[in-house]
Amino acid sequence: MKKIVFLIGLLSAKHLSAQNSIIIHADKGKDIIDKNIYGHFAEHLGHCIYGGFYVGDSNKTIPHKDGVRLDVIDALKKLKIPVLRWPGGCFADTYHWRDGVGPKKERPSMLNIWWGNVKEDNSFGTNEFLNMCELLGAEPYLSGNVGSGTPQELADWVKYTTHPNGSSPMTDLRQKYGRPNPWKVKFWGLGNEAWGCGGNMKAEFYANIYRQYATFMTNWNNSDRLYRIASGASDDDYHWTEVMMRDIPANMYDALGLHHYSVINWSKKGSATNFSEQEYFITMQRALQMEELVTKHSAIMDKYDPQKKKHLAVDEWGGWYDVEPGTNGAFLFQQNTMRDAMIAGTNLNIFNNHCDRVKMANLAQAINVLQAVILTKEEKMILTPTYHVMEMYTVHHDATLLPSEVKSNKYILGKDTLTAIWASASKDKNGLTHISIVNVDAKQAQPVSISINGANYKAVSGRILTSDKLQNHNSFENPNKIVPSVYNGAKLNGSNLNLTIPPFSVVVLELK
Ligand code: AHR
Repeated sequence: MKKIVFLIGLLSAKHLSAQNSIIIHADKGKDIIDKNIYGHFAEHLGHCIYGGFYVGDSNKTIPHKDGVRLDVIDALKKLKIPVLRWPGGCFADTYHWRDGVGPKKERPSMLNIWWGNVKEDNSFGTNEFLNMCELLGAEPYLSGNVGSGTPQELADWVKYTTHPNGSSPMTDLRQKYGRPNPWKVKFWGLGNEAWGCGGNMKAEFYANIYRQYATFMTNWNNSDRLYRIASGASDDDYHWTEVMMRDIPANMYDALGLHHYSVINWSKKGSATNFSEQEYFITMQRALQMEELVTKHSAIMDKYDPQKKKHLAVDEWGGWYDVEPGTNGAFLFQQNTMRDAMIAGTNLNIFNNHCDRVKMANLAQAINVLQAVILTKEEKMILTPTYHVMEMYTVHHDATLLPSEVKSNKYILGKDTLTAIWASASKDKNGLTHISIVNVDAKQAQPVSISINGANYKAVSGRILTSDKLQNHNSFENPNKIVPSVYNGAKLNGSNLNLTIPPFSVVVLELK
């Protein structure tokens, strides 16, 4: 008998060691998860703007307001889209904003040299974008042309968009072109990828150029201060961050960018839908590298700015694969599967957990490009698994981060391992606690026990995004194959919870 009890003891001990555990410190919340972490990015690239957001004001088949698709507006409002970056990307450093204002028939056309050399007729310009942001209830983030523009041109764009009426020829122009009052434009990027398509500059050179451009970008007359974002590092280019922090005076910037894409291999990216577990594993290695990147770039910023007054803006992130067969290679149109849900769920948890420094992130890109939340085909529109993760995580917008410690099992493939469980927790303004948990393991369901210090709960409810194949995705033929569903699998006992998360799934719990 004794032997049997001992055996049961051993077995349960073994079962316990296979248990993932999360400790949440509900009594230690202090940092706010800035809702701008849930930001998006819209470039003049492929069908992000034209055909995605904008179908032209004379379109007779697709419901629109001033040419902006209403189905898209509706879907993005449900995401509570907080901020939208525009017009690029690489395009931004070729863009001259004066080409895109005024009567449409007088606007010049140009070639979009970065993205397929297609004709850009400038029918979607500053007024169209800023009015669209108002319709969306999102803050605009304008990416200025530093690579091929001038300080004057950028300073004039600030005046055209934000300065009070009657204060310059630019504000007269704004009124002439039909906008009676300034817009609210707080977020300004000074160039994009200055180390690459934005001018192939060295860090030291860009820091000097940045200072010059920033000097003339002012809105002293306006109570809303500009928030200036310096073009940031690519991936693990820590030298770039070091130089920006060292060489740009603190009063000249508010945030530093960072770009990181989850790409298997730049010369062999692989299919978005037809991929092996090995390819999934590598994509997730790249995606989870975000934790290290944010930690290390922040550590450099800490040296110069220990009070964390300067922010990290991860203003491009997401998965990047081969384009869909039969589509223009320069348009970056790719499908979106449960793999993308894993990238989104883990990266958003990482940003939440680093919200003391990361105050903005912009998924690349909103519609029809890279890891899009929306795909369109003429009058049809579908929502991707990434959209659903973003929607499930809206509960974290502007909530207080509850610090957490995760002890996770490994997701094992051959000799390689990855951390299986990624989580973050927050408390919202109504006192509700939310925990988002991702199991990236492609094969194993993961049992998770959660204990919450400093709080006691009476009820738990949940939602889950899951599917039976990693490669599953929504299509125009089957738009609702992957949608969130109710999750009743969490058992609550005061301040303790137990649940099991299926492979490659995202769960969001609500506790009250
Ligand atoms: O998002 C697509 C491109 O990726 C952007 O234009 C550029 O900034 C980045 O290299």
